[in-house]
Parts: sequence; structure tokens; C-alpha cells
Amino acid sequence: MNTKNHNVMGDERGKLVAIESGIHIPFEIKRVFYIYGTQPNVPRGQHSHYKTKQYLIAVNGSCKVTLDNGQSKETYKLNQPYIGLFQDAMVWGTMYDFSADCVLMVLADLCYNEADYIRNYEDFIRIKCNE
Ligand code: TYD
Repeated sequence: MNTKNHNVMGDERGKLVAIESGIHIPFEIKRVFYIYGTQPNVPRGQHSHYKTKQYLIAVNGSCKVTLDNGQSKETYKLNQPYIGLFQDAMVWGTMYDFSADCVLMVLADLCYNEADYIRNYEDFIRIKCNE
């Protein structure tokens, strides 16, 4: 299971989730991006990274994520702001079934670099077979 339920802190003022590098996620955070305003039936992701590790949290709304390590696939539903999903390097990820209000936040250990993407699934499988 790649998902983790984070501790929800809070009081009568509201809730709070804290995520710290090395404590709650297994890497140093170098980049944060988020996806929102997604269209119905339009998947996102559909790529792998050579080196980048990611951590996904639907901080609002919900979506599904399928992770594929080249041998097996597993689908996760992210529907709470305290659920995190770790996506390791060299794992193919597809995000889909976004609710209209979904804000999917992604923490990453490396800065954006198009050269770190594998966007063709056949290439991904070929590279996995040669690992
Ligand atoms: P893309 O990787 O296609 O999005 P997704 O994987 O969510 O479907 O990225 C969309 C655009 O945003 C593309 O032009 C690259 C750019 N981008 C950045 O500039 N920095 C980033 O950190 C990310 C993730 C994307």
C-alpha cells in the first residue's frame, strides 16, 4: 500500500495537516505543483520519471491514481486531504476521475526537467525490462 493517512491536527478553529521532508515523506521537497480545473474524462499524468519521486495529495475533492511499476498496476482513490500517495521514480502514473472541485497537490524531490520524463509507455516498459 503506497498511501498514508497523515495525522490531522486541529481544534475548534479547523483542521491542519503538516508534511515534513524526511519525517512524513521519504525525500526532500524541491518542488510543489498542483492540478485543478480538470476536465471530465480527461486523464493527466500518463508518464513516468527517470529520477523524480512524487507525493500526491488531493487537498480538495477527489481523483483516482493508477500506479504501474511495469509488472503490476494498483489504483488508489485520493478523497481526503490527509491521504498521501507516494509515486517512486520509474513508476508510470495516471490520474483520472477528477471531481470538478479537485485540487491535486504534488510534492517532488527534483525541479522540473522535461528530460526526466518518459512519456511513451512502450519506452517505459522497454527501459524497465533493461533495469
Ligand atoms: P504535464 O506534465 O503535461 O502535466 P500532467 O502530468 O499533470 O498531465 O505538464 C503540463 C505543462 O506544465 C507542461 O507544459 C509542463 C509544465 N510544467 C512545468 O512547467 N513545471 C512543472 O513542475 C510541471 C509538473 C509541469
